[in-house]
This record gives sequence, C-alpha cells and structure tokens, in this order.
Amino acid sequence: MRQRVLDRSVQEELDMARVRTTTLLKFKESGEKITALTAYDYPTAKLLDEAGLDIMLVGDSVGWVVQGRDDSLGVTMDMMVYHTSLVARAAERAMVVGDMPFMSYQVSAAEALRNAGRFITEGGAQAIKLEGPADKFGDAIRAIVHAGIPVMGHLGFTPQSVHQIGGYKIQGRGDEARERLKEEALGLEAAGCFAVVLELVNADVAAEITQALTIPTIGIGAGSGCDGQILVVHDILGLGIRTKFSKVFGDAKSLMAKAFADYVKEVKEGAFPTAEHEHR
Ligand code: KIV
Repeated sequence: MRQRVLDRSVQEELDMARVRTTTLLKFKESGEKITALTAYDYPTAKLLDEAGLDIMLVGDSVGWVVQGRDDSLGVTMDMMVYHTSLVARAAERAMVVGDMPFMSYQVSAAEALRNAGRFITEGGAQAIKLEGPADKFGDAIRAIVHAGIPVMGHLGFTPQSVHQIGGYKIQGRGDEARERLKEEALGLEAAGCFAVVLELVNADVAAEITQALTIPTIGIGAGSGCDGQILVVHDILGLGIRTKFSKVFGDAKSLMAKAFADYVKEVKEGAFPTAEHEHR
C-alpha cells in the first residue's frame, strides 16, 4: 500500500481517493451526477473501479442475477457478506455498499445493527443499504448510523416486499402516493441516511423528492431528475433482463456465447490446444 502511494503523483492519489458520503454530498451540491452499479464479484468490480464508478452496490439482486432465483428473498447474510468481500477486495476508489437481505433488519434494531456490522468487519464495505421507510425501520437506521455505519435508504418499489406490493409496479402515481413517498424520503433523511435509492418511481415525483432532500437520490427507473443513477450490472451487459428503464451498453452476452461455442467446437475438432499451448 505504502509503495503504491509513493509510486503515484499527489494528483493521482487525490483522483484515487475513496468516494465517501461527503464526496456524494459535494456531487449533489455541484450537480455532478453520481454513478452506481451493482457488483457481485472481484473481476467485474475491478473493471468498474477502473472505469471510475462512484458506488458499487453489492445488491441482494445477486439472488436472481447470479443465483438464478425468482427473487431476492432467499438470499442470506452469509451470501451477502461473501459477495461483499469479493467486491471490496477490488474497489480502491468506489464506495462499496452492502445490501441488507430480507429478514436481516426487520426483526429488531439490535439484530439489524449486528448484521450491518458484519458488512463492515467481514465484508469490507463502507456502507449498507436497507429497504423501507423510517416509520418501519427508523430505529434500525438510527442504531446503525449511531454505530458509525453509513446507511443508504431505498424507497419506491422495494423488491423484498414484492409479495405485499403485488408485483413490479411504478410507485408514486397519484397525489396521495406522491405525498407519501415524499414524506418517506424526508423521513429517511431525518433518520440519518446519507442517500436514498428511488426504484420504479414516477419521474416527476423522483425529481420533486430530489429537490426536497439535502441528501442525494440514486434512481433506478426513476428518471433523469435524480442526483445519480444505478442499474444492475448484468442488465447493462445484455446478460440480464430487458426493462424500459435499463439500457444495454455492451453486448457481453453475444461475446460470451461466441467464445463458449468456439471453445466447444475447437476442442471437439482437435483445433485446441495446439503446440503453442503445450509444456515441454
Ligand atoms: O439489489 C439491488 O440490486 C438493488 C438495486 C437494484 C437498487 O437494490
């Protein structure tokens, strides 16, 4: 570490400095957009860090994206801590946020705090995220923040409540829903959250909430009026699901499919390995 510091210029070191909650606040104040993606493994996290991404969220979306489940509800603390440790090992600049899985913070504030602590001590994260408003989880949020762990909130469509919500529905439509969502966002700010994810939220409402908060909003399917954007990394590579709000930035799916098919073909035909791949 020390040698790495000595090898770099001061400016390079400043550019590499870890993104912190204070950095994100400065971005909001200056209007610089915050970039976030999910990450679940070391090689992907390394590339994301090198690309200059601000936040890597080790999302419980790992349940459907990586593990092939229908939802995230079966994802455990042990799984989340494991994936967080892989990502944290690669992230030199980006803030690593560990996503608290279903039932890791709902039972009591004490259990929430213990589990949040595992993301930091075992996972190497710099912050955690949990879903839901402060009128339900305010005690847990305050306990975690009180212990020195930054908390990112998550409102709008909250995947861990998919069965209660009754499906993947846009949130904040209609005057009552709009007001409720705004109140919930202000409640999370008051409880001590450093940022709030707004998922599947009417774009006008998300923009209004962004104006009302002093902490940054990070949108996913919530329009361009948020302070930052987050997407699932597999989706932007064409490896996940297609949605209206996401975009494929690179077709890794075709690239991988071709590489796998070529490998199978060459081994079957005896075209690989050749002499150049052999040890003598
Ligand atoms: O689990 C996840 O990946 C998330 C993001 C989609 C915000 O919560």
